[in-house]
Amino acid sequence: MTEAHVSDLMEKAVNLSKRRGFIFPSAEIYGGFRSTYDYGPIGVLLLRNVKDAWWRSMVQLRHDVVGLDASILTPPAVWEASGHLQNFTDPLVDCRKCNERFRLDKLDDPDECPNCHERGSFTEARQFNLMFSTNAGPVESAATTAYLRPETAQGMFTNFANVLNTSRKKPPFGIAQVGKSFRNEITPGNFVFRTREFEQMEMEFFVPPADADQWYEYWCNERFNWYLELGIDADKLRLRPHEADELSHYARATSDVEFMFPWGWDELEGIANRGDFDLNAHATASGEKLDFFDQANNERYTPYVIEPAAGATRTMMAFLLAAYDEEEVRGETRTVLRLHPRLAPYKVAVLPLSKKPELSGVATEVLEAVQRHWMVDYDETQAIGRRYRRQDELGTPYCVTVDFDTLDDQAVTVRERDTMEQVRVPIADLVAHLTAQLAL
Ligand code: GAP
Repeated sequence: MTEAHVSDLMEKAVNLSKRRGFIFPSAEIYGGFRSTYDYGPIGVLLLRNVKDAWWRSMVQLRHDVVGLDASILTPPAVWEASGHLQNFTDPLVDCRKCNERFRLDKLDDPDECPNCHERGSFTEARQFNLMFSTNAGPVESAATTAYLRPETAQGMFTNFANVLNTSRKKPPFGIAQVGKSFRNEITPGNFVFRTREFEQMEMEFFVPPADADQWYEYWCNERFNWYLELGIDADKLRLRPHEADELSHYARATSDVEFMFPWGWDELEGIANRGDFDLNAHATASGEKLDFFDQANNERYTPYVIEPAAGATRTMMAFLLAAYDEEEVRGETRTVLRLHPRLAPYKVAVLPLSKKPELSGVATEVLEAVQRHWMVDYDETQAIGRRYRRQDELGTPYCVTVDFDTLDDQAVTVRERDTMEQVRVPIADLVAHLTAQLAL
């Protein structure tokens, strides 16, 4: 894309998301609701594919990681022990002139209000806890307080012994989880980059303390390569180690995988060495043993934890931005999402050239054959050129056109998204052809 295109990439991606059914503002018919978003018919597929690609790489293709799906509602004892009640805060300042609120650590100039540009108008910073609280049950009291988890990670720590005792795993091994987390962010924004309700993909990898540094390096590389393998250009990705004063209260070391967003480098994922902070904290607070007896060496130890923690919704947005492209084709601008086939919402679109019943019949047969294998779109309205453009904007790798020749030769035209090249393929070979091309 040209530089002019890159500069308004964000606006274009947001427009495309709305126009094609990726992401809608939540409760839009009521004017929207505070940086919340709904994932539409196409977005839900892309988001699911991002999560599936993560699960495939982190759980399915490994023998040393198992899955978990822990509850979102969590009692205060967990957050007391984890340090979140005390430390999961951001510094909040109010502008005395315009009454807007800001996160002090995110201001370009800590003396100037970015809204009304008044200088020296901020109140003293106060620590604002980001956890959402609610009540479990009909009575509102301190005894019924529950929190919506602000990270999925604690479910893995509180279930450490359960998993150890039931899964036949021993360190080094990991527990992975994908699910919603909630943070009462002071300044949500940049579309779905920072929202109050979002999805995380986290894995806690429990290792012998002596091996922690080596595993930390290993997971930094693995996670960085995951984004590359799914098609993000190397020049849009970097791995940035945290300075000592940036580290979370639990972390001994952290590196962020960062993506070049339209506003600059920003975080996609953090890989942290959490040491034995969490298991020790929960063992002390609960009185349960959360350690491991290594029979081979006849020693008991508390494993260290290496944690790759990614955001599913934020990562989906990065894949969308990285895939967005525009090019001139025969005097017209073609918008195309060059998504990796594994992430593409639909792998295939079946497009009968006309709505005539003789074509619909064979097109439905083609659809049913292909649909068994992948998510497939079926579209029989508008001129074929416009339908191709629509599929390009959805990132569909292959369009299968059923035309009147199909009735004679029992073959279809397969069009590839990126090159727009077309080949004729017998219907009998179509699934095998697409399987080879998609190479999932
Ligand atoms: N368990 C460690 C942890 O939660 P984090 O860096 O606070 O670490 C991990 O969060 C990832 O979750 C981030 O890298 C980001 O991708 C995603 N994330 C965090 N807060 C978010 C928010 N408000 N909106 C969207 N994604 C968010």
